[in-house]
Amino acid sequence: VGDALGDGEIEKRHARNDGIEHGVALVAQRLVQVEGVTMDDLANDIQEILLSESQIQQRVCELGGRISADYAGQNPLLLCVLKGGYVFLADLTRCLTIKHDVDFMAISSYGDGTESSGVVHILKDLDRDISGRHVLVVEDIIDTGRTLAYLLQNLRVRQPASLKVCTLLNKPSRREIHLDVDYTGFEIPDRFVIGYGLDFAGHYRNLRFVGVLKPEVYT
Ligand code: IMP
Ligand code: MG
Repeated sequence: VGDALGDGEIEKRHARNDGIEHGVALVAQRLVQVEGVTMDDLANDIQEILLSESQIQQRVCELGGRISADYAGQNPLLLCVLKGGYVFLADLTRCLTIKHDVDFMAISSYGDGTESSGVVHILKDLDRDISGRHVLVVEDIIDTGRTLAYLLQNLRVRQPASLKVCTLLNKPSRREIHLDVDYTGFEIPDRFVIGYGLDFAGHYRNLRFVGVLKPEVYT
């Protein structure tokens, strides 16, 4: 294709690509405006918005509706996996119409990079015993599945009445360990994403959309 294009056409295409990048930054900028304060240094790092705020909100409330129906009368315990799950949990629980409890566990698979190491550590355990409880694990994303596989194994030993998984995002193409996922917000391609709780090196969790960073941010 490249050969067939004259210089003028190539320039035009470059200009259009710049325009698209500029446009994404502008949209991102608008989306991260909070009470008139624009978070330019966050918005400028975004290459693409994968899931918009309204897409996410709609889907989260659909999941909330299904969970409310499935767990009616069971007072489930929503177990939020920190840190990534906190934004999703906050929105999900506000779409539930049934009584429920929440608790938190912090686990880490090492490193600030974009790959999970598979070495999982419990940094903060649950406050209460879960034996006999209906437990729903709330995760931000399932990638290789290693983190969640470890966690589920750890939780099963505590003998909950039931143990299910709700994840906002799922990258099935990356799975190394088979897992049954009961509720999934979105299946996404194999790309490193940030926003709506998900971070890169601790940042971008506060974005209201799920997006992809410009490659130069990683380097
Ligand atoms: P897994 O053990 O490979 O399934 O990785 C799970 C954890 O890695 C998630 O809970 C996230 O903390 C992190 N992770 C995996 N993929 C992404 C991503 O695309 N963006 C941000 N964090 C991710
Ligand atoms: Mg996580």
